[in-house]
Amino acid sequence: MPVVVLVGTQWGDEGKGKITDVLAARADVVARYQGGNNAGHTVVVGDTEYKLHLVPSGILYEDKVCVIGNGVVIDPQVLCQEIQYLRDGGINTSNLHISDKAHLIMPYHRALDQLEEESRSQRIGTTGRGIGPAYVDKYQRVGIRVNDLRSRESLAEALDKVLPDKNRILQKIYNHPGFEKDEILDEYLGYAEQIVPLMTDTSLLIDEARQKGQNILCEGAQGTLLDIDHGTYPFVTSSNPTAGGAAAGLGMGPNRIDQVVGVVKAYCTRVGEGPFPTELMDETGNLIRERGREYGTTTGRPRRCGWFDAVMLRYSVRVNGLTGLALTLLDVLDVLDTVKVCTAYEYKGERLEHFPTDTAVLRECRPIYTELPGWKQDLSGIKSFHELPKKAREYLAFLSEQVGCPIQIVSVGPRRDQTMLVNSVF
Ligand code: IMP
Repeated sequence: MPVVVLVGTQWGDEGKGKITDVLAARADVVARYQGGNNAGHTVVVGDTEYKLHLVPSGILYEDKVCVIGNGVVIDPQVLCQEIQYLRDGGINTSNLHISDKAHLIMPYHRALDQLEEESRSQRIGTTGRGIGPAYVDKYQRVGIRVNDLRSRESLAEALDKVLPDKNRILQKIYNHPGFEKDEILDEYLGYAEQIVPLMTDTSLLIDEARQKGQNILCEGAQGTLLDIDHGTYPFVTSSNPTAGGAAAGLGMGPNRIDQVVGVVKAYCTRVGEGPFPTELMDETGNLIRERGREYGTTTGRPRRCGWFDAVMLRYSVRVNGLTGLALTLLDVLDVLDTVKVCTAYEYKGERLEHFPTDTAVLRECRPIYTELPGWKQDLSGIKSFHELPKKAREYLAFLSEQVGCPIQIVSVGPRRDQTMLVNSVF
């Protein structure tokens, strides 16, 4: 089973970084397929905590080939800083490969992201990193790609096609001074020195690895409910974190994918705006936030917290074709007397079993809960599934049955050794 896609099943921040890190031990290639530095992964190796935004977590292993695929939007300043941060920590970055087709986040994308967000009557709560505007340019066919960093001429030519329009928008609509071409050229050619040597045809690299029978782990960022097509539009990101995004974002046929593993929290969180039926605005929500350290890795914003939503997860199982679940942060619930699971919604007196496609309907949905007894035991030191207290196992069995997908991995803490493999993935 060599090609595994790992996706977030909720609103991002499910702990994909940690699960990627654990699975990377058995992978040969770890590849990111969408998003950019709106994502943030925290991985703990021994006593050291690493925070990564762009580089796949597989980089923390000496020998893994790491890929940033064509579907990712790259802020080269952040990428260069991250490479330096890893090198300073003694991490080998020579196995990092970057798609020549990946699009670049430019200074005007960051400016526009922030200015557009401020002028919206209904905010999305973007991370302000320029992600949306960079994808807009990609689809507008005026984007600047990694390949354009090859020379001053190629970058200047690409900028000539887009910068005058961006400056007009910035100056006329937002009263912003705009950006100087030469300043961008000087800055970006500095990044090019580090990035161009890493640039390659990553689709070919992945295909060659697959043909050799190597294990390939495709790592999504954000989560299913933030997907531009399948998420709670318009409160979404501008790419496809769902499993289908892996094929397009890496240049890999969908029939090459053998397994799709969904990373899911034992409860639910969301950053930014948008509906969230199981949100807790009370002491239990605060307790989950503090125990789960639910503050954004990228923006530091407190995350909204709530109970596990099985209606949403059934949807995630469907749109991603999930073959298994990696359940994280189970230990956060250790102190609770009871735990609730939303099994259906009530909408205008009607019972809904399926996740509504209309965000306005979702906003009006009230959760219907099943309450289960808590296990009231510290799980953080437990090493195998069978050692889990009976009530914790019953909670997991209930979730699995409700969403119609087996649980393959259970995580009870940030460290690698706080992970139980119920069924091996590779
Ligand atoms: P953008 O991706 O910066 O455009 O933000 C769009 C929405 O996605 C906002 O609600 C963000 O809070 C959310 N978002 C983006 N990246 C992440 C992530 O990695 N984790 C959780 N939420 C995210």
